[in-house]
Amino acid sequence: GSTKFYDFKVQTKRITKLCTSKDIVTINGMFPGPVVYAQEGDKVIVKVTNETPFNTTIHWHGVRQKLSCWFDGPSYITQCPIQGGQSFTYQFTLVQQKGTFLWHAHVSWLRGTVYGAIVVYPKRGVPYPFKHPDGEQIIILGEYWLKDVLQLERDVLASGGVPPPTDAYLINGYPGPNYKCSANDVYKMDVIPGKRYLLRIINAALNVEHFFAIANHKLTIVEADAEYTKPFTVDRLMIAPGQTINVLVKADQPIGKYSMAMGAYMSARKVQFQKVPAVAFFQYTGASLSSFALTAQLPCYNDNLAVKTVMDGLRSLKPVNVPLQIDTNLFFTIGLNVQKCHSSNPKQNCQAANGGVLAASINNISFIMPKVSLLQAYYNKMNGHFTEDFPGVPLKMYDFVNGAPNNIPIDTQSSSGTRTRVLKYGSRVQLILQDTGTVSTENHPIHLHGYSFYVVGYGSGNYNPRTAKLNLVDPPYMNTIGVPVAGWAAIRFVADNPGVWFLHCHLEIHASWGLSMAFIVKNGNGETESLPPPPTDLPKC
Ligand code: C2O
Repeated sequence: GSTKFYDFKVQTKRITKLCTSKDIVTINGMFPGPVVYAQEGDKVIVKVTNETPFNTTIHWHGVRQKLSCWFDGPSYITQCPIQGGQSFTYQFTLVQQKGTFLWHAHVSWLRGTVYGAIVVYPKRGVPYPFKHPDGEQIIILGEYWLKDVLQLERDVLASGGVPPPTDAYLINGYPGPNYKCSANDVYKMDVIPGKRYLLRIINAALNVEHFFAIANHKLTIVEADAEYTKPFTVDRLMIAPGQTINVLVKADQPIGKYSMAMGAYMSARKVQFQKVPAVAFFQYTGASLSSFALTAQLPCYNDNLAVKTVMDGLRSLKPVNVPLQIDTNLFFTIGLNVQKCHSSNPKQNCQAANGGVLAASINNISFIMPKVSLLQAYYNKMNGHFTEDFPGVPLKMYDFVNGAPNNIPIDTQSSSGTRTRVLKYGSRVQLILQDTGTVSTENHPIHLHGYSFYVVGYGSGNYNPRTAKLNLVDPPYMNTIGVPVAGWAAIRFVADNPGVWFLHCHLEIHASWGLSMAFIVKNGNGETESLPPPPTDLPKC
C-alpha cells in the first residue's frame, strides 16, 4: 500500500441554516468535513491541528486499528484531548479493510458538527463483488441544532432529563425544504437515466437512528459497516448512528425529480424527537427543475418491523469464520435508569421520574470518564484511574423487559464507576447485549472499538440460550449493532487486538449518561509488551 497524508485543521466557521447564523467547529472550515480517500492496505496519516479553544480528538470509526490503539481517538480512553493550539498526528494502516467508514470527533458532543466520510477502495485491480457502478456518491446523515452542541450537551446533562428535539436533520449538510428558510438549502444528486449508482450512506447523527428511502427507487444493500453483504433489496432501510450501509440504486424510473428522505426511527419513545424528515433530491438529467419531487415514503417512527426486515437480510457475502468454541461468555444488560438526584450537586435539576436524574448503564454500572486516558493509565501502570472488575453478568436482574416499560421498577440502585473488563488476548468472546426496560425500551446502537464482530443472533424479549437461534454460517461482520427494542443481540469476536477498547451506545446522550464501558485486551502474560509505545506527540491531560 501507499501512504495518504491529510491535514485536518480544527477551525470555527460561521454558517447559516434555518434562518440563523452561528459558529460551529469544523475541519478545514468544511461541514460535513473532508473525505479521507484511501485504498485497502494503505497507511493513512492525518495531522490534526487544533486552532480552536475546544478540546478535540478524532475517531476513525470502524477502522480496527490493529496494533495501533494509540490512534483510535476516543477521549480519555486512548488519548487525552488535543487542546487549543496543539496538534496530534494519527497514523494507521487499513489492514484488510475497505469500504465506507466515518470519522468523527470523540470528545463531548463535538461530533455534532465534526464528522466526515472515509472511503477505502479495494486494492488495485480487485473488483467489487457486483457490477461496477456508473457513479458513486456519499450520503452522510446528520443532525442540526440551533444551539451550540457543546452548550446543548451541558444543558441537557444539567437538566437531568431528555434532550429537546433536534432542530433539523441533514443530508450531506443540507436540511431540505421541510424546514424554515431551507427551500433552497437542499442537497441534489444528479443522475443519468438508466445508470446505476453506489450510495455510501453514513449515519453521523448524534442522538437519532434514521430511516432512509428514495421515492420509487429500490435500494440494494451490498455492504454494511465496511464489509460486503449478500445483495438484498429493500424499499427503505434503517441506519443507526455509527453505521455505514452501501446500496446500489438504478435510475430506472421516468425522468423526474425524486425525493431522498431521512426520518427518525425512535423505537418506543414518542416524545422529544424531530419527526419532520430531511429531504434531498435524486434528480434525473432532463427533469424540469421546477417540477415537484415525488415524496419518499418512510416507515412510521416506531416501526420496529421495518427495522427487523433490514436486519434479517444482512448476511455476509460468503460463509465466514465465526468462532464456534467460546472461551469467554459475557452478558451485558443495557438501558436507561433513574439515579437518585444528589441535591448537593447544583448542576442537576432532577427532572426525571420520581425527582431523579436520567442515567444509563451496562450491567447496572454507569461509566464515569477518567481524568487521564485509560490506555495511558494502563500502559504506564498508573494507579487509581480505573478498576478491572467490570462484571461479566448484570449485578441485578430485575430490570429485564418482562413487562410494559412503565410498570417496571425504577432502578435507583445502579452504581457509577470507571470499571473495565479484561479479555485474554486470543480468547473467543460471545457477548449478549440485552435491552432492559427500567425507564423505556429502546434500540441501542452498540459500538465496539478496535474490532468488527459477527452478529450471530438477535431477537425480541429476554435472551434465552435454549431457544435463541444463532447464525454461525454467514452472519454480518459489523462494528455497530442496533440491539432490538426490548430485545437482545449476540455478537462474537476473537480478542486478537491488544489495547484498551471502548464499547458504548452510539446515541451520544446515552453514552454521556454512562452507557459505556471499556475492554482491556491483554497478551498472554497480562502485560503490556505487545503494545507499541505511545507516539511522542500524544496529547497530555
Ligand atoms: Cu463512532 Cu466511540 O464511536
